[in-house]
Amino acid sequence: MYYINEEIKDLYRIFDQNSRDGYIRMDLNENPVGLPQEFIDEVLSEVTPEFVAKYPEQLEFTTKLAKFIGVEVENICLVNGSAEGIRYIIQAYSRPGGKVLSVTPSYAMYDVYCEMYGRKSVHVDYDENLKMDVDKFIDAINDDIDLVIVLNPNNPVGDVYSYEEMDRIVEACKKHECTLLIDEAYFYFYPNSFIKYAMENDHVLLTRTFSKVFSLAGARLGYVVGRAPEIELVQKLCTPHNVNAFGMLFAEAIIEKEGMLDKLVEKQLNGKQHLIDTLEQKGYTVNADEGNFIFIKPKNRDASEIVDLMKKDKKILIKVYREVPNLGDCLRVSIGEAEVMDIFIEALEDIDK
Ligand SMILES: Cc1ncc(COP(=O)(O)O)c(C=O)c1O
Repeated sequence: MYYINEEIKDLYRIFDQNSRDGYIRMDLNENPVGLPQEFIDEVLSEVTPEFVAKYPEQLEFTTKLAKFIGVEVENICLVNGSAEGIRYIIQAYSRPGGKVLSVTPSYAMYDVYCEMYGRKSVHVDYDENLKMDVDKFIDAINDDIDLVIVLNPNNPVGDVYSYEEMDRIVEACKKHECTLLIDEAYFYFYPNSFIKYAMENDHVLLTRTFSKVFSLAGARLGYVVGRAPEIELVQKLCTPHNVNAFGMLFAEAIIEKEGMLDKLVEKQLNGKQHLIDTLEQKGYTVNADEGNFIFIKPKNRDASEIVDLMKKDKKILIKVYREVPNLGDCLRVSIGEAEVMDIFIEALEDIDK
């Protein structure tokens, strides 16, 4: 009899992220404008037939990245987007049937991976003011939990934890022998990192990505940080040559170009502030915390209707998150440079009347 893994057969996945060319993409927290064309051309001018023909080698880039973020090579595992790293951490640090604790709402893939591997995901909900009750979250950490996941900042709610709160979360995880995953996909938009916890403690891992501030979502590159034994375990799960040479080439060019990362952060955060200020001046209610995304309450029309019209008439992609308490009737918009924010504002005013 043919065997089919029922967990995979019944798994709910979304494969609708196609045909986005030609749109202003403000739906998936990418940089809607991207890196300067001259920079792309300059980096691609280094590409040779040998570069493309050869399996990618990671050591040189990992060494530079390790130095850049202040850790050793043994503390980094490169992954094909941080979504891959998260999957490996769930696979390696929770048992079949075991419990994975995270928050709701948050990044959808934690639950998808839990279902894929037959783990049970349990959640602590954000309150109606979109704040996490950290005591409640810590109370939910117990001997039954294998893996705890926190986001700093959260997506789609840009909420963060203080160092004192993270101290207590780490302590609770240690007490109950739960591994802790800290997802820092939006690091650099929010400068306080919890990387020291991953470096100083066993069973604490941190993931980051080049998809957001670095504007390299198409290149699929991320990394896991942790102590050497944890990283070794994650590394063992990686497919051979799991990260591609183009991703590493671009990421290296950005981290080596003096001031480039700072400029990327500054431009995008200026665009965010510009969007918030302009919308507030125009009488909109905006919910903006950390990260490269904000929520906007429409003044006149239904949020889903605006999302559809933005796509159809204005070629702009945005989203609604129906499941977010209080913000279910809001537009969720990824931010970019001020110029692209102006295009969005003009389109919104035209539609929301
Ligand atoms: C919180 C969070 N973690 C991880 C990811 C995955 O990013 P990537 O796989 O592109 O590195 C995302 C993507 O949106 C995210 O929002």
